[in-house]
Amino acid sequence: MRIAVIGTGYVGLVSGACFSEFGHDVICIDMDTQKIEGLKKGKIPIFEPGLEDLVIKNYKAGHLNFDTNLQKAVSTAEAVFIAVGTPSRRGDGQADLTYVYAAAKDIAQNLSGYTVVVNKSTVPVGTGEKVDKIIRETNPKAQFDVVSNPEFLREGAAIEDFMRPDRVIVGVTADEAKDVMASIYRPLSLFQTPIVFTSRESAELTKYAGNAFLAMKITFINEMADLCERVGANVHDVAKGIGLDGRIGGKFLHPGPGFGGSCFPKDTRALFETSSMAGVPLNIVETVIDVNEKRKKDMAARVIAACGGSVSTLTIAVLGLTFKPNTDDMRESPSLDIIPELISAGASIKAYDPEGMKEAKELLSGVEFCENSYATLENADALVLITEWNEFRALNMDKVKSLMKAPIMIDLRNIYDPAEMRGYGFTYESIGRPT
Ligand code: UGA
Repeated sequence: MRIAVIGTGYVGLVSGACFSEFGHDVICIDMDTQKIEGLKKGKIPIFEPGLEDLVIKNYKAGHLNFDTNLQKAVSTAEAVFIAVGTPSRRGDGQADLTYVYAAAKDIAQNLSGYTVVVNKSTVPVGTGEKVDKIIRETNPKAQFDVVSNPEFLREGAAIEDFMRPDRVIVGVTADEAKDVMASIYRPLSLFQTPIVFTSRESAELTKYAGNAFLAMKITFINEMADLCERVGANVHDVAKGIGLDGRIGGKFLHPGPGFGGSCFPKDTRALFETSSMAGVPLNIVETVIDVNEKRKKDMAARVIAACGGSVSTLTIAVLGLTFKPNTDDMRESPSLDIIPELISAGASIKAYDPEGMKEAKELLSGVEFCENSYATLENADALVLITEWNEFRALNMDKVKSLMKAPIMIDLRNIYDPAEMRGYGFTYESIGRPT
C-alpha cells in the first residue's frame, strides 16, 4: 500500500513509522521544513522509546520518507491519513478542528484516482461527515471515501500499542474503503487482532468513550484512595480485589495525583461539550473532570500538611515533572498545579525530571532546576515524588537521607513501600495506604 500521512506530530510520526514497519510505502508530510529535514537525518522531535530506531531503519530501507510537498504524496497514495492536532479551543473546551479542515482542503485539491482519506486525529462525532463535505465541495470530481480510524496510543508505549493493539476501530461508509483498510492492517492478523468495522460516527465516539472511561476509572480509584486513608484500608488491595473481577479489569486502577497529559483532560472536556450540545450532558464525565481538577490542586495542601502545616521557610525537592514517565510531555501535568501552589505558600523548589526539563523550564518559573535526583535532594526539607520514572524507583535511601535536611517523603505515586521507608527513618506519606 502507498500511504501518505499528513502531520508529523506524535500520532502522525508514530503511525507513519509503524505503517512502514508493516511493509507499506509511507510518506509523512509536514509544512515545517526544518522538522522534515531533521527527520530525514533521524532527528526525532519528540521523546518516544523505540521511535528513533524505527524511523531510521525504515527511512534507510526506503519504506519511509518525509516531505513538505503534499501534492505528490497525496496524488500517488491509496490512503491518506489526517494526523494533525486537535487542541482544546480556548473558552469552550471544544476540539479545535481548524487544522483538520485545512488538511481536508489541501488533500481534496490533490486527489487522483480512488483514495481513502482516513481521519486519525481525535475528532468529535460528525467530523468525518464534514471532512467528506469539504472534499466533495473543493473537488467535485474526486473519487474518495472518508474513514474514521482513531488511535489508542499511550505516550511512552506508543510503538507497542500500534504494533500489538487490543483492537483496531474503523468507521467506514463503503465496501471499497473497508477493503483498503483491511489491507493496511492485514499484518496484524498474525496476532489475531480484532479489526472492528463500524459506522463513522460510532468510531469517532468510541475514541472519546474509551478515554473518558479510563479517566473515570482513575478518578474512581483516586477517590477510593482518599476513603481508604480515612478508614485504614489499603487502596492497592481494594484495586486488586475489584480488578480481578473480569467485568472490571485491573488496569488503570493505580491511584495518584490526578490524570494529566494531552488526551484525557482535553478529550473528557470535548466529550462533555459534545454531549451537552446534543442535549444529553454526560454528568458522570463532567464530575470526572471536576474531581480531577480539584485533586491536582489539593495535592499541594497534602504536601504542606505532611511538612507540618507550613512550607514558608522550607526547601522542597520535586522529582518528576512530566505527566507520566517515558515522555517529555508536560501538558496538564499535576506538577504544574502542585509546584506554583507550593511556591505561593512560600516554599523554595528544587526540581528534576529525566526528559521533561526543557519544557518544564518554559512552564515553571521560580524553580531551581537540578542536574539529577541527588543534586535535587541536597539540603531539602522534604521530597515530593510526582512522576514514577524508573530511575526514582531505586534511589539509594541512605544517600537520600544524608543529603536531605529532614527525612520527609511525600510519594504521590506509591512507588515505595511504607514500612521500608519508615525503617529508613523517613516520615513517609503516600496515597491511599495506612500510615
Ligand atoms: C491515553 C490513553 O491511555 C490512550 O489509549 C489514548 O490513545 C491516548 O490517551 C490518546 O488519546 O491519544 P496517554 O495520555 O498517553 O494515553 O497516557 P496514559 O498512560 O493513559 O495516562 C494518562 C494519565 O493517567 C497520566 O497522568 C497517568 O499518570 C494517569 N494514570 C494512568 C493514573 O493516574 N493511574 C493509572 O492507573 C493510569
